[in-house]
Amino acid sequence: MSEQREPVGVIGVGWVGLVTAACFAELGHPVVARDILAEKVEALSRGELTIHEPGLAELVQRNAERLTFTTDMSELLDAARLLFVCVDTPPTYSGDADLSRVRSVVEELPADSEHVLIMKSTVPAGTGESIRRDRPGLPYVSCPEFLKEGTAVADFMNPDRVVIGADAGDEGAGDAVARLYEPLGGAILRTDVASAEMIKLASNAFLATKISFINEIANVCEEVGADVGEVARGMGLDERIGSSFLRAGIGYGGSCFPKDVSALKMLAGNTGYHFQLLTAVIEVNELQKRRVVAKLQRHLGSLIDKRVALLGLAFKPDTDDMREASSLVLAARLQGEGAEVVAYDPVASKRAGELLSSVELVGSAVEALEGADAAVLVTEWGEFAELDWAAAAERMTRPLIVDGRNFLDPEALVKAGFEYEGIGQTVSAARPAAAS
Ligand SMILES: NC(=O)c1ccc[n+]([C@@H]2O[C@H](COP(=O)([O-])OP(=O)(O)OC[C@H]3O[C@@H](n4cnc5c(N)ncnc54)[C@H](O)[C@@H]3O)[C@@H](O)[C@H]2O)c1
Repeated sequence: MSEQREPVGVIGVGWVGLVTAACFAELGHPVVARDILAEKVEALSRGELTIHEPGLAELVQRNAERLTFTTDMSELLDAARLLFVCVDTPPTYSGDADLSRVRSVVEELPADSEHVLIMKSTVPAGTGESIRRDRPGLPYVSCPEFLKEGTAVADFMNPDRVVIGADAGDEGAGDAVARLYEPLGGAILRTDVASAEMIKLASNAFLATKISFINEIANVCEEVGADVGEVARGMGLDERIGSSFLRAGIGYGGSCFPKDVSALKMLAGNTGYHFQLLTAVIEVNELQKRRVVAKLQRHLGSLIDKRVALLGLAFKPDTDDMREASSLVLAARLQGEGAEVVAYDPVASKRAGELLSSVELVGSAVEALEGADAAVLVTEWGEFAELDWAAAAERMTRPLIVDGRNFLDPEALVKAGFEYEGIGQTVSAARPAAAS
């Protein structure tokens, strides 16, 4: 008979919590996952997934017998000693991380709890210390999550590294967490709690900085006639720089980068330190989305009553997450200029509908392009590369496209009859030879 694996408790069943629960179940652990939203727990208990994440449905289905979803904290506390906290930590009005959900989880633990609190939620450095101060004797481990939506299951199962922060006295709790991750084979970094918390914030801030950096380079490329794709390729071959996160576009979004960059900037500010670089990273990202509007205006003049099709709404492909999606800013700005906005996303339309009430949401890219004066590729969904662009050009009032992710082949688009603009690409080279 196979040995019984250590039971795992998961608190908060969103993107991180559901992936964590399903993956530990896949590794053979009985998992009890608790959320406060009854409808979410009911849906998951019926086997219905609450988020779009490749490979996750199969994992949840395959491990249904080892996975229990509940709203009842006591069920979780009875079942598992190791508790992964995966609740959301959104930004507050001030830009700091909102720790109210984390705090309410801690308050729900009984005073004599022998559980181990394992923080997967992204929290500012100092959070672990303050929880330990409030709850002396409660073993506490920081284990930040690095998965990426769209490839979350694969990222969890094949981590680059697992960071485990435990302070003096909690080494045994750290060992227990390390044992859970050992079968995955990634590097396990053992450190103190504050450093683990900073590793997560610094990693996201660095990646966001890389994105804003290449976006600024792209903007300069447009001025001097260089091609940012070539520039990034040349830069990326330098192993000190590396090629990832050097893709120019209309900026980052999502539930992590915007809030984590802001939280780190505020964390520094609260200590009296002005993190100037991050101020610029945030501002560049904000302006980058708005540059699309100027590009459209350069071609179309006034946008009043112009019909603009947004292709893709989710903050990145292979997810239906709309949090801080660039499409939200873009739609609002276009509408602010008087444009009529029509949009299509392969999976995010339902979530988008709740946020974009005055945008016309349609069921296909072709429908969105019908009669449009311009299109903007916002999210690089694979299906957009497969579209019959020549046929699409014929259905548009004006076949003009701004490729916000430098995802499409400019030459093919021009051949299909489009005026094509990417980000940081040489516009003149991509103009149709005989534009009418
Ligand atoms: N989404 C990502 O790609 C990602 C990656 C790495 C880290 N993180 C971090 O992980 C954390 C969770 O992110 P997410 O995207 O999964 O959030 P999410 O909003 O998708 O999920 C959070 C869940 O926690 C639940 N919740 C809130 N309070 C609760 C409580 N007291 N008890 C039980 N459940 C409760 C909510 O109902 C929700 O279902 C955040 O701190 C985030 O920054 C997210």
